[in-house]
Amino acid sequence: MKYVVTGGAGFIGSHLVDALVDQKHEVHVIDNFSTGKKENCNTNAIYHNYDISDTAKNKNFIKIMEGADSIFHCAALARVQPSINNPVKYEMNNTIGTMNMLKGASDAKVRRFIYSASSAVYGSTTILPSFEHHLPNPSSPYGSQKYYGEICCKMFSKVYNLETVSLRYFNVYGERQDLGGAYATVIGIFIKQCLNDTPMTINGDGSQRRDFTYVGDVVKANILSAQSDKVGDGESINIGSGKNISIKNLANFIGNDIIYRDPVNEPFANLADVTKAKKLLDWEPIVELTDWIVDYKSKIGLN
Ligand SMILES: NC(=O)c1ccc[n+]([C@@H]2O[C@H](COP(=O)([O-])OP(=O)(O)OC[C@H]3O[C@@H](n4cnc5c(N)ncnc54)[C@H](O)[C@@H]3O)[C@@H](O)[C@H]2O)c1
Repeated sequence: MKYVVTGGAGFIGSHLVDALVDQKHEVHVIDNFSTGKKENCNTNAIYHNYDISDTAKNKNFIKIMEGADSIFHCAALARVQPSINNPVKYEMNNTIGTMNMLKGASDAKVRRFIYSASSAVYGSTTILPSFEHHLPNPSSPYGSQKYYGEICCKMFSKVYNLETVSLRYFNVYGERQDLGGAYATVIGIFIKQCLNDTPMTINGDGSQRRDFTYVGDVVKANILSAQSDKVGDGESINIGSGKNISIKNLANFIGNDIIYRDPVNEPFANLADVTKAKKLLDWEPIVELTDWIVDYKSKIGLN
């Protein structure tokens, strides 16, 4: 089968590419390497270096997508805090980019479009766990853009007959996550700080809680989304572990010294209800965060 993965040189996309290649599929990647890395590339996949928001390249996109069963749309500028500093750049990239990929998939007569959505659509909610029917209330440009992408997917299912499904990932971690720079997430930052033998920095008092999801579980959810006959109508589905942990406890589990900084504007907690994913995709999270940390620390020689 032929598949296209946008953002396939990034953290999540590259794991998905590897899984599809392992299953002997023909895999095409569209990526402009803005945050993607050459070292994430799989020698058995075919890479097309384009910006997904470049509307002048629509014919090229259609050509790449023709004959594909499904598109996995992972490409985005993918972090909350940098989107607050640069909302217009993020808007062009994430919303125009998604619209462009939907249009390309529809013109190329692709069967299904699987969209990497985000728990950021829930924003600062106090009603937890989050169910998919809860009212989205994004609290960042990134969260709003991710939500608009879901609306566009649903609309394409209705108006253009393109099967779509939106997967709302909760704080993904795993091998190849960024360990430093503006795009690193909290687990990566803590690990890097421990490797450098510096204290782990916590914004605020560390009582904020996050639901962390292993990248391999996210990959499985994507593949099941392409196969399931119960989705395709623009459904939004939570992909989380269904448990959360405070950032302070996470830090204590990873390393030793902690320093506290001023709080940033961020949701106090997130937590997924994953009943819908179980029902529609027959998916459930397998990997435990603490098991993975123990394993990973030992692999990279961090004690
Ligand atoms: N990592 C998480 O915790 C998380 C949580 C929720 C949702 N998501 C979503 O999952 C997807 C993948 O996230 P990730 O963590 O792997 O991020 P990432 O930055 O590692 O990967 C994104 C990839 O998209 C590419 N890209 C970005 N803009 C592009 C453009 N205009 N044209 C072509 N390629 C472009 C980048 O080069 C990169 O390879 C994103 O859509 C993100 O919003 C991630």
